[in-house]
Order: sequence, then C-alpha cells, then structure tokens
Amino acid sequence: MKQNDIGGEEQDALACDGCAVVGRRGFLVRAGAAAAGVLVALGALPAMAEAAPLEFVKALGGGRQDKTYPIPAADGVQIDKDNDTILARWQGKVYCFNLGCPHQNTALHWSDKDTQFECPKHHSRFLPDGTYIANSGRATRDMDRFAIKRDGNNVVVNLDSLYQDDDDEAAWKLAFISVS
Ligand code: FES
Repeated sequence: MKQNDIGGEEQDALACDGCAVVGRRGFLVRAGAAAAGVLVALGALPAMAEAAPLEFVKALGGGRQDKTYPIPAADGVQIDKDNDTILARWQGKVYCFNLGCPHQNTALHWSDKDTQFECPKHHSRFLPDGTYIANSGRATRDMDRFAIKRDGNNVVVNLDSLYQDDDDEAAWKLAFISVS
C-alpha cells in the first residue's frame, strides 16, 4: 500500500523525524504540550484554551501498578504524563489507554476538532473509545486499554494489565466502566 518507492525506514524518517516515543514510564506528548505553549506564547484567548476538553492530570495515588483518578465529570480526554496513560470519558463510558500508538509507540495526540486520537508519525486515527479508523496510518489494532474498575467516585487503573485487542479481544472489550 505504499504510495511511492521510498523504503519503509526512509518513509518513517521523512514522515516524522523526532516524533516522541513513549518510554516504559517516561514522558511524551511533547507536540501537544508544545502546541499549548505556542497558544500561550501567541496570547491565544484563554477561553479558547479552556474550551478544549484535553487536560493534563496526575494520579491521586495508588500503589506501583494501581493508579487512582477521579471519574471525569464530562466527556473529554485527560493525559497523565507520569504514567503514560490517557483517561477518556465518552458517551457514558470511561476508558484508560496506553499513551503510545499501537504501531510504534509514538505518543498519540487528541484532536478536539475531529473528536479523535491521531498519531503524528504515520497518521493512524482512532475513535474516542480507542477503535482504529480503517485505512488511516499503519496501525493494525485498536488503542491498547488498561484494566479499569470503579471505586466510589474514582477509577482505579491497573498498569500491569494492558490489553491488546488482537491478543485478548474479550478482555479489551470489557476494559471500561459505565458512568451515568
Ligand atoms: S507509530 Fe505508526 S501509526 Fe502510530
């Protein structure tokens, strides 16, 4: 499905030289943070920045592998840079995804305008529930989901239980909580 005769590695280099790659627990989302920084630098209207349903959050606590977050009050996306997670509330469900793209672990971005996740490297796109949008980019599976459970007004995410839909589809499908 190549559109030209450039080799895969060369295409990768040309497509996204310097895309942030998610480490085991390292940081990323540099592009998103950089974009926010540009908005601030340019004096963008605060109301515009506040309107975007993307937040950077920290876990409330928890053990090494269990991280606790408040249940998001409204639909939107929250990124925890310390733990490379994305907490998303969408249409009555809350999910926790791995921040890395399922293709080559590049940090995913959230597009508020298009209401979807996007990979800056090969341009795969995903719905808010993590479903891969067919024929976009090079991903071959949906976004990876962590195990998640409800604890009162919080969710607890198990970072040791990451489900890939092409490996354990049943567990992947069940990795959410319902909210009203
Ligand atoms: S890293 Fe290739 S599609 Fe995301």
